[in-house]
Amino acid sequence: MQLPAQLAHAIELETAQHNLRSLTQAATELSKNYRSQRSARGVFRATAAHRLAYVAVRMPATFAAAHAVFTEMRRLMPDKRITSLLDLGAGPGTAGWAALEVFDEVQEITLVEQDEGWIQTGQSLARTAENVRLAQADWVHAQVRAVASFQAHDLVVSSYALGEMAPQVAREIVHAAWAAARTAIVIIEPGTLRGFEVIRWLRAELIALGGYVLAPCPHQDDCPMPIDDWCHFAQRFARTSLHRRLKFGTLGYEDEKFSYIVVSKHLDKPVNARVVRHPLRHAGHTRMRLCTGDGLQTITVTRSDNEHWQRARKIAWGDQWP
Ligand SMILES: C[S@@+](CC[C@H](N)C(=O)[O-])C[C@H]1O[C@@H](n2cnc3c(N)ncnc32)[C@H](O)[C@@H]1O
Repeated sequence: MQLPAQLAHAIELETAQHNLRSLTQAATELSKNYRSQRSARGVFRATAAHRLAYVAVRMPATFAAAHAVFTEMRRLMPDKRITSLLDLGAGPGTAGWAALEVFDEVQEITLVEQDEGWIQTGQSLARTAENVRLAQADWVHAQVRAVASFQAHDLVVSSYALGEMAPQVAREIVHAAWAAARTAIVIIEPGTLRGFEVIRWLRAELIALGGYVLAPCPHQDDCPMPIDDWCHFAQRFARTSLHRRLKFGTLGYEDEKFSYIVVSKHLDKPVNARVVRHPLRHAGHTRMRLCTGDGLQTITVTRSDNEHWQRARKIAWGDQWP
């Protein structure tokens, strides 16, 4: 997975104006803050350097996660046209960039963000990249909670944002977001125990509101994941040389771990079962951990299983089974 070339170029131009040493320090602070938030909630006040460091090191990762989730949504509801998008806690507009790559038909975009600096960064990236739909999007400078109700949009997304809020606030926002969603709502959080906790209870809220879980779950029942474990997936994305420098990394790629939920307004056909861990491949058999309508199961497919063996050899974490 790669960022759209125009966005990657815009990020390069924006960051080139900033001193590399202060960007590196800001990237280190961002990642420390991200790690500490795994156990404790806290509000992180971003400076201009933090925002630029975010677009260089985190935006490619959150873009990769959003792109993977939207791709799965499109695969599972290929006939639904998504012409409008509402993004809550938009930051630099990451989810909008990913949505435009998957749902080419999007015309109307509304991005709600509490921090004016983020809005300026997002608008500047969109202009530099000549992304007209994002540059001309409706960027709303507001606390999501302060907006009592949102205008109806086909798709409502909140990506890496609800977990930063107090649970009661996140709950209120999800209720308002659900009311505004014509087709579906997507929530994405870091693929950590804490990120998944947010997904787990918001999933239950949305089911109680009458939603149909489209992905990743194959069922509407209580989540069977043990309380000390978390359902998450990973998306690999290419690192730029700036990304490697800011993160002191040598690999040409990184794997972004994320937890997510797509909840539909309509009764769509969910998957039969989903692979929730890396499959273990051996010479004559593959072992898979699955979430199914009957809870979590581990199955083994052997070479002698003609019907399933070819598929089992290629199956990946996050795929549907069979
Ligand atoms: C980690 S960033 C994620 C940005 C973007 N959605 C992404 O996926 O890259 C979280 C964003 O949510 C915004 N945010 C947090 N609480 C908010 C609130 N109550 N109202 C509006 N924006 C909020 C923050 O200012 C920040 O820009």
